[in-house]
Amino acid sequence: MTVETAHDLQGILAIGRIVGQALNYMRTQVRPGISTQELDDHARHFLDRHQARSAPMLAVNFPRTTCISINEEAAHGIPGARRIQPGDIVSLDVSAELHGYYADAAITVAVPPVTQAQQRLCTSAQAALYAAIAAAQAGRPLHQIGRAAEQTARQYGYRIVRALNGHGVGRSLHEAPHSVPSFYNPMANQRLSEGLVLAIEPHLTTGNGHVIDRADGWTIATRDRRPVAAYEHTIIVTKDRPIIATAVVAG
Ligand code: CO
Repeated sequence: MTVETAHDLQGILAIGRIVGQALNYMRTQVRPGISTQELDDHARHFLDRHQARSAPMLAVNFPRTTCISINEEAAHGIPGARRIQPGDIVSLDVSAELHGYYADAAITVAVPPVTQAQQRLCTSAQAALYAAIAAAQAGRPLHQIGRAAEQTARQYGYRIVRALNGHGVGRSLHEAPHSVPSFYNPMANQRLSEGLVLAIEPHLTTGNGHVIDRADGWTIATRDRRPVAAYEHTIIVTKDRPIIATAVVAG
């Protein structure tokens, strides 16, 4: 969507804040022995308390409130009986709706003992996200976002998972522009306009970045079983730096 009124702006900022706070809360609960279902329950209760609804449930009939993807799982992991182990990297992806507005954000949490390699992957994925956000400026082409993300990934020796892209968001979970590539794709040449709401979500991996769909019908994992780290924010494009609607996410 394009934010056109103060009401739109408040709507996006309100749900952005709730999504960010839900992630912050989930992060405090990530520890060895907790199941991904229990983490998802925490998110569900948090969203309930704020009258917000799970966007993946509303939009695509996802079976749980949030997506939780561990290690080589790149996206859309289904919370369930699996228990978090020491040394896992856990991606938490929360999107939700309030009063007809949607926001989407993700973080990756490394569970101690964390290797330097895991820490570096996570830090680089965060750096790629912030470089991508900085490139999202009114008047510039959409492909500058992915270009910045990919350049940052390469600089640190990682690849972008090209199958996983950002997207327009705001009045629904996925809307125009339907793909915000996280790599340099010259075809994505539409000009960014003021007020455009985007979810930006580069996924970085130590491997070649090719993915497979798991038999559960949702989970996307790397074919070479290399780990993935991903961070995501919902932003509003302006003439200068974008407004980060989900900025309340700590780190
Ligand atoms: Co998203």
